[in-house]
Amino acid sequence: MIRAVLTGTGSALPARRVSNAELAEQVDTTDEWIVERTGIRFRHIAGEGETTATLAVDACRAALTAASLAPADIDLIVLATATPDQTFPATATKVQAMLGIDDCVAFDVAAVCSGFLYAVQVADSMIRAGAAERALVIGAETFSRILDWEDRTTCVLFGDGAGAIVLEARESVDDVTDPGARGILATKLHADGRHNDLLYVDGGPSTTGTVGKLRMKGREVFRHAVVNLAAVMGESLALAGLTSDDVDWVVPHQANARILDATARKLGLAPGKVVVTVDQHANTSAASVPLALDTAVRDGRIKPGHIVVLEAMGGGFTWGASVIRF
Ligand code: UT7
Repeated sequence: MIRAVLTGTGSALPARRVSNAELAEQVDTTDEWIVERTGIRFRHIAGEGETTATLAVDACRAALTAASLAPADIDLIVLATATPDQTFPATATKVQAMLGIDDCVAFDVAAVCSGFLYAVQVADSMIRAGAAERALVIGAETFSRILDWEDRTTCVLFGDGAGAIVLEARESVDDVTDPGARGILATKLHADGRHNDLLYVDGGPSTTGTVGKLRMKGREVFRHAVVNLAAVMGESLALAGLTSDDVDWVVPHQANARILDATARKLGLAPGKVVVTVDQHANTSAASVPLALDTAVRDGRIKPGHIVVLEAMGGGFTWGASVIRF
């Protein structure tokens, strides 16, 4: 059977790295509070000339090199973001032009922090349907530009960055327990739009005509996150015909170290199987899963043959999980 096989990963971060102590000089907070409540120590903040598209392009170049492909080989770009360079055109088309790809399918997906999981599902479906052969799937964000820097309950939590993967249509073994069954084995997505007021941006083209700033009721989001993420990981594993015992690595959305610990505990997964980058990158929304994935691939933790579960939850609410064999 044809599956979408992951053949390369890449990521990019803005040059400027900001510590909690540096933030505490401008915001009424402390390094101790941030580390204890979230696990965050650093975040990268985009400077002049760095945008969602430029970060995405750097991540894509690294992913293409890892996959031994040239930009012209790509026939699909799906970019997940809540912080596009412009309201339109889609940032994916800007990335396409910057990569020098003359013609392909290119569009953005808006599902906030779960955007990368939604983008993976769309690209995987198009590949299996024969509508694309080689896709760049990207999560890229510049949340620093929609933060209210006067609001200490949110501005200390987020950072900027981008991650990308290459998915290629490849012949793959049907039996998921066979090591030859490479690629995306299953993805499960959810949305529940009743929770708009718990995590949102207070502006938009069709309402205020402004970009708006991020607002979040953190404690309530936290409660939903732990329940929903553990459940959807279980669902995606069941869809793939696997159990949590088969999992080599979980690559979660990096919102809060306490959410990662609680979710792993609920699933009975050893903390040593969870990739954690929230300390270095903070919450980069749609970029967080592919950034963490690229980190663990490049440092040699994730190896060919490994079963990896990606998961995320964010504004909407939206949430999802994907099971991949490398
Ligand atoms: O990416 C989408 C998904 N997002 C998430 O998953 C985020 C989920 N939520 C969280 O991660 C946590 O709820 C937060 C990190 C946002 C907050 O942690 P918390 O333990 O839920 O704290 P809290 O909101 O209940 O606030 C506790 C106290 C408050 O003071 P009082 O009312 O107890 O006196 C806050 O005013 O901490 C205070 N506080 C701060 N203090 C120092 C809030 N922000 C700060 C701050 N520095 N930056």
